Amino acid sequence: MSHVMNTYARQPVAFVRGEGVWLWDEAGKKYLDALAGIAVNTLGYGHPKLKRALAERLASGVLHTSNLWRIPMQEAAADRLAEITGLDEVFFCNSGLEANEAAIKVARKYGHERGIAEPAIIVMEKAFHGRSLATLSATGSRKVQAGFEPLVSGFVRVPLNDLDAVRQVAEHNKNVVAVFIEPIQGEGGINVSRLEYLRGLKEICERNQWLFISDEVQCGLGRTGKWFVYQHAGFLPDVVPLAKGLGSGVPVGACVVGGRAKGVFKPGNHGSTFGGNPLAMTALVTTIDTIKEEGLLANAARVGEIIRNGVPRGEGITEVRGMGLMIGMELARPCLELVRQALDAGLVINVTAENVIRMMPPLIMSEAEGRMVLERLAPLVQGFLEKRVAA
Ligand SMILES: Cc1ncc(COP(=O)(O)O)c(C=O)c1O
Repeated sequence: MSHVMNTYARQPVAFVRGEGVWLWDEAGKKYLDALAGIAVNTLGYGHPKLKRALAERLASGVLHTSNLWRIPMQEAAADRLAEITGLDEVFFCNSGLEANEAAIKVARKYGHERGIAEPAIIVMEKAFHGRSLATLSATGSRKVQAGFEPLVSGFVRVPLNDLDAVRQVAEHNKNVVAVFIEPIQGEGGINVSRLEYLRGLKEICERNQWLFISDEVQCGLGRTGKWFVYQHAGFLPDVVPLAKGLGSGVPVGACVVGGRAKGVFKPGNHGSTFGGNPLAMTALVTTIDTIKEEGLLANAARVGEIIRNGVPRGEGITEVRGMGLMIGMELARPCLELVRQALDAGLVINVTAENVIRMMPPLIMSEAEGRMVLERLAPLVQGFLEKRVAA
């Protein structure tokens, strides 16, 4: 009996070695990874540049100092993030929920500075923002919230891709200070915001002087073929919370701000002991530099298209959604069992929202490996759909 707290329904597989997009379990069985630890392992496993950079960091003896001192590697990391986001200031933390907590605090403080005593934030149905009290309150899932009431107040929920709903809130609620959106909902089932909708939202934010907060914890950092989803829509948000893929496996979170959110946080407003430490920052800088050096944005777009175009379609498959290497296949019925069947077939995938097969491979996946994902996936889905016919 394990003493690990029982908060996850785990598969009975332990990966103990990795190279590229491949993993090996304790028995030596080899798996093709189309999930990247849920969009975390940007550079796959054992990337030589990351191994070298982390080995040098280890050899320096300095893994952590403190935010009481200057941290040159943190300054380098913030420069990188400012450059790729187009924004100005970065607060470093360790996870997605922390990045989102920072974003929520920025929005509230921004509201207070504008004389709004009880600032409200517009959030989306089916969104996932994390499991702290504020972020689970912002999350659009009763399953995530149930049992943890009272929820944090100050969130107004609307459906995704519905501008009229946002306009109505704008008309009736003068406390709104921000829109908080995952432009592609990950946990919610790979639900993609229309680019027109994002541009419309941005316009409403401009008109009302609201912050546009783009939670790109899961969809950001190159996965969609551009660094960030808002870049597909062609505008700059005010706040961009990031985590997951930033450190290719080393825990890193960041809340990047610009526009109206610039300068809202002042000394003493926020903090994190570990946030931005030299170990994490080394992983972040190496990840961003390697994405650039190896052309991984274009690779994500190319390999993503191969996978998206090649997944099975037909009866029983409701829709194929996504951008780049963030792909969802919605089936007409719950398909959680496919995760185990895929493992048996040497393929790592995930099922989210009960009936959406989710694939988010490392950005280094080659075209040939993308085709291998399809070769392994197709018979599984076929078998699953045929079983229904037989039943
Ligand atoms: C869009 C989004 N935001 C926030 C989070 C929370 O991140 P973390 O689990 O690192 O707290 C997640 C995690 O799945 C996410 O997908």
